[in-house]
Amino acid sequence: MTTKAFIFDLDGVIVDTAKYHFLAWQKIANELHIEFTHEHNELLKGVSRVRSLDIILELGQVTASQEDKDRWLLQKNEDYLSYVVDMDESEILPGVFRILQFLKENNQPIALGSASKNARPILEKTGLLPYFDAVVDGNDVTNAKPDPEVFLMAAKLLNISPENSIVFEDSVAGVQAANIGNMTSIGIGEASMLHEAKYIFKDFTEIDTAFIAALIQ
Ligand code: BG6
Ligand code: MG
Repeated sequence: MTTKAFIFDLDGVIVDTAKYHFLAWQKIANELHIEFTHEHNELLKGVSRVRSLDIILELGQVTASQEDKDRWLLQKNEDYLSYVVDMDESEILPGVFRILQFLKENNQPIALGSASKNARPILEKTGLLPYFDAVVDGNDVTNAKPDPEVFLMAAKLLNISPENSIVFEDSVAGVQAANIGNMTSIGIGEASMLHEAKYIFKDFTEIDTAFIAALIQ
């Protein structure tokens, strides 16, 4: 067996927080009378908070002062935090724990590579923090996905080359970031959205440990 770096996105991969981000943004969009659907929400996945607001304002062709934007960003995060405050291990997406355990049993280093500034508390609440050898999140990077910075930093912290790194991602921008970084991309979600990924699974229950074992051969 070789050693590979296994890098996980957080929102929509490990936990279903994508729905909470959606609800919090939808509330802002409603207040601004901007139509904001699940399809629009795909544009926001993997994207930073600041950029997400800009995308919503662009959708509604709304221009706003920095002061208003700062207020909405704060409001969005407060709403989002109110959804995640009571999170526990029951919100870990099906199959994720089994794969994390398999990787640990096989001494494979694991990292988080997320755009979120709320990543650490969520890993703590769900009890998953001890599984991660490195955590890189929105507080550590300057360039948002599809820039590969977040994943390159994670691989570096694990001392593994990008070519030997494997990324699990639910967002188009994240899959692109992994590909641009010369990493193996595994899309988690709809094949129609994530067709640029090297492998695609609907969720982690579809991932066999034999598949992971083959990656580390
Ligand atoms: C990403 C999510 O993981 O983090 C985005 O996919 C979110 O939807 C981004 O906007 C930033 O998260 P946060 O918690 O810093 O607002
Ligand atoms: Mg995600």
